[in-house]
Amino acid sequence: MARTISLKTAIPGPESQALLARRARAVPKGVPAVTSIAIAHAEGAVLTDVDGNRFIDFGGGIGVVNVGHRHPAVLDAVREQLDRYLHVCFPVSSYEPYIALAERLNAITPGPHEKRTFLLNSGAEAVENAVKAARAFTRRQAIVCFEHGFHGRTNLAMALTSKVSPYKKGFGPFAPEIYRIPFPYCYRCAEGPHGGRCCQADRSRLEQLLAAIVDPDSVAAIIMELELGEGGFVVAPVEYVQTLAGLARDHGILFIADEIQTGFGRTGKFFASEHYGLIPDLLTTAKSLGGGLPLAAVTGRADVLEASPVGGLGGTYGGNPVACAAALAVIDVMQRECLPDRAARIGARMMTRLKALAAQHAPIGDVRGLGAMVAIELVKDRATKEPDKTLTGRILQEALRRGLLLLSAGTYGNVVRILVPLSVDDAVLEEGLDVLGEAVAAATRS
Ligand SMILES: Cc1ncc(COP(=O)(O)O)c(C=O)c1O
Repeated sequence: MARTISLKTAIPGPESQALLARRARAVPKGVPAVTSIAIAHAEGAVLTDVDGNRFIDFGGGIGVVNVGHRHPAVLDAVREQLDRYLHVCFPVSSYEPYIALAERLNAITPGPHEKRTFLLNSGAEAVENAVKAARAFTRRQAIVCFEHGFHGRTNLAMALTSKVSPYKKGFGPFAPEIYRIPFPYCYRCAEGPHGGRCCQADRSRLEQLLAAIVDPDSVAAIIMELELGEGGFVVAPVEYVQTLAGLARDHGILFIADEIQTGFGRTGKFFASEHYGLIPDLLTTAKSLGGGLPLAAVTGRADVLEASPVGGLGGTYGGNPVACAAALAVIDVMQRECLPDRAARIGARMMTRLKALAAQHAPIGDVRGLGAMVAIELVKDRATKEPDKTLTGRILQEALRRGLLLLSAGTYGNVVRILVPLSVDDAVLEEGLDVLGEAVAAATRS
């Protein structure tokens, strides 16, 4: 079988280096350059850089191309829309692709209840708008969020985000009425599971925790990633989420599931909420929704979303028609190609391979994830679990040098996460996992 990876130069090659040098003079360093390569072409799960080197993409544009780069059905839908109109502004003149996408999202998100959807441009914008809508409906102001959570870089989203450096450092003041509680991070929990159950999944304990920081009856919403994304692919236990959702319901608190990274088949279901039997009041999506074009959505209970005043929601660009056309094609592809099932199979394969790798390399302290949202956590010592950010960086570098693009995550920067396009061929997946194994071996040797 021919290998997919093909390297013609050392990495980064001269053309990438030249572009990155231009970048450094033109773009502030606050916009990170996670890899040292510049891309000329992308297809499926393969990236070609400006030097003609071919890489396997285990980052998927940070979870944006679950259907694969340049899926033909997405390209066709985009081309067709290009010939009609690019922008008319949905709040000014309605158009069908926006309405059709709202209908599709209302239908595929969890729960048979009456829903509404409105569209935005980025994940952070969706989060901000979900919070706005929750506050308008409940007439309450407080929002509960989680340690290790990530919700974006705009002011309110940044306030909801946990990790200080680099997301918040020097960027205050932060939005008020934000209250943070611990995320059920089993690998790092001091107590360990109680008879196999999450120690935090205890109703009275959660009530006490909340009551110590805020009056539950003043809380508009709890916002949660069911599997942390940037926070390191930590999966919340089912019993914890169910207990929390019950508590929220009893106090009239809305549950916002931030499915911006977990959505669109990534976890082996269309939405991670489905693993939990959770019907969120509001659900935010972005990333893979647009198949590569900028698009985000808030979907939720009709009564909640109808509580915001006319003109209070939306924006000039939200729900761009070309992005809507792409999103409709993404949903078709996901359903036609059964990509959530494919994610479950890819995830099972990755789990087997990564657990075998962990058996060989002591620094891999944990292997975890739902479906194809899988990660390894690197530690200096399995007993102390001291995070090993340096080793994580070396693994990413060794992988890139060998033609595999990988991303890190985690509050301590010590997690290697995989967001491979779900359309990836088995052979390409195996080749990528082989390279990951070589990279871990090389990084732990050096
Ligand atoms: C769970 C989650 N919420 C919100 C965001 C913010 O999305 P965006 O970068 O499109 O603003 C992200 C981005 O990584 C995310 O993973």
